[in-house]
Amino acid sequence: MKQFSIVIAGGGSTYTPDMLEMLCLVREHFPLRRVVLYDNDAERQEHIGRFGEILYREYYPEAEFVYTTDEETAFTDIDFALVQIRPGGLKMREMDEKIPLKYGVIGQETCGPGGFAYGMRSVPAMIELVRAIRRWSPEAWILNYSNPAAIVAEATKRVFPDDFRLINICDMPISIMDIFCPLAGGRKRTDVEPRYYGLNHFGWFTAMYDKKTGEDVLPEILEKLKRGNCDDELGFSGKNDAYWNFTFKHLEKMVQDFPHSLPNTYLQYYLYPQTMVSHTDPNYTRANTVIDGREKRVKAYCDEIMSLGKIRGTKFDLDRKYSAGSHKNADGEFESATIAHNDAHATYIVELAMSIAYNQNEVFLLMVENNGIVPNLSDGMMLEVACRVGARGGEPLRIQPAGTFEKGLLEGQYAYEKLTVDAALEGSYQKALQALVVNRTVVDTDLARRILDEYIAVNGEHFPVLK
Ligand code: NAD
Ligand code: G6P
Ligand code: MN
Repeated sequence: MKQFSIVIAGGGSTYTPDMLEMLCLVREHFPLRRVVLYDNDAERQEHIGRFGEILYREYYPEAEFVYTTDEETAFTDIDFALVQIRPGGLKMREMDEKIPLKYGVIGQETCGPGGFAYGMRSVPAMIELVRAIRRWSPEAWILNYSNPAAIVAEATKRVFPDDFRLINICDMPISIMDIFCPLAGGRKRTDVEPRYYGLNHFGWFTAMYDKKTGEDVLPEILEKLKRGNCDDELGFSGKNDAYWNFTFKHLEKMVQDFPHSLPNTYLQYYLYPQTMVSHTDPNYTRANTVIDGREKRVKAYCDEIMSLGKIRGTKFDLDRKYSAGSHKNADGEFESATIAHNDAHATYIVELAMSIAYNQNEVFLLMVENNGIVPNLSDGMMLEVACRVGARGGEPLRIQPAGTFEKGLLEGQYAYEKLTVDAALEGSYQKALQALVVNRTVVDTDLARRILDEYIAVNGEHFPVLK
């Protein structure tokens, strides 16, 4: 069996420990010879790197484990690069969210003006990172989920148009399936094959086909969501934090208002901006929750293991932790380091890498360029759609034309995304202003200018110079 070499770029990410553990768990199915963490913040990565050394010494002695800030060491002889960088860090995410909220506008990581600001930082950083990976490993698969993935995907399509081994992905549809598929006769996500279309964080499920019978079980799920109170049947409220509970519950409301398809949770920011603004504390946003929660938890987790010097035989023992196929300990508490809302993230990426490595041709939702996939949407649009994924990459499955409602929303959002990428690549203030005005969470030009100017001021060198 071939043994693969993997780099995780953004090695200091809060998601890295779960990913490292997941790779240990699938070691017999997806064997590795080398695992490298790469980050441009040595101090931040150090905590996770030292945890990783212990983990790999005990659970994966046959694989070499390295953490580094050196590009050549990181990217030489790589088969898969998993990319999860956050340029500007959670500190700038906090600004992305808080500045628009001052004006009663959506303040969110990837939606509305926050996604614009994050995009202005991520686009140049991602381009530079892809170039660095390509310099040392021209044929590595780059699986990127750095946000805002829609904008990153539009930028990488333009700068690396022929690079079919560069794939942009998101775990949100997977999480939605993990949570809501049980409404269809107790099915699991892996029992069905989804059909879905839209832009990242801005799309709809149109079908979920039972893999054995071919039956579309989405109508059954929609019917139950329309009736409401699905959290009783699904019991998800005990599993997530307050933000995700609210968000998953909100899906019922979206289906009641628009019953023909199952929307991505992030559509709540575009379809109910007033509710979402009034539901957000402008002085304590999601970034604060993550800084005070997941970020601290991950560091403490790694540091505790570092001080123990071992994992086997401790409360962190992987065999114990994952034995019931879940991340819960006997008290029902999460022992895993991160687990934002479920384990979708790490699982999804490993499943995708395996489908490529072994040419399994499984269906995944990837961001790919529209050229007739949804025939009545703009060519070039970076659609998130179902693709068969194998050794040649993703092959999209054609889907029916978009309805007028969805098409209207999507074309507007795509114009915003294109203008954001134009602004970042050309250094254009005018395009940046246009992007914010086109975004349906902003609309007003004077307001857009105020938000833009504040973003430019707080971002300093994180932003391209806008003239
Ligand atoms: P984080 O801040 O904890 O981790 C990001 C890491 O990237 C940090 O260690 C930082 O130092 C590093 N970094 C920043 N710029 C870099 C660069 N240019 N080169 C190398 N390293 C760099 O953030 P997080 O909350 O763990 O999230 C990580 C990323 O994953 C974010 O982009 C987040 O939006 C994304 N994410 C995406 C999805 C998805 O569905 N697509 C899901 C989860 C997380
Ligand atoms: C989902 C989305 C990601 C996003 C994450 C935010 O997984 O698909 O794109 O980054 O949620 O989670 P957080 O806990 O950082 O707010
Ligand atoms: Mn996402």
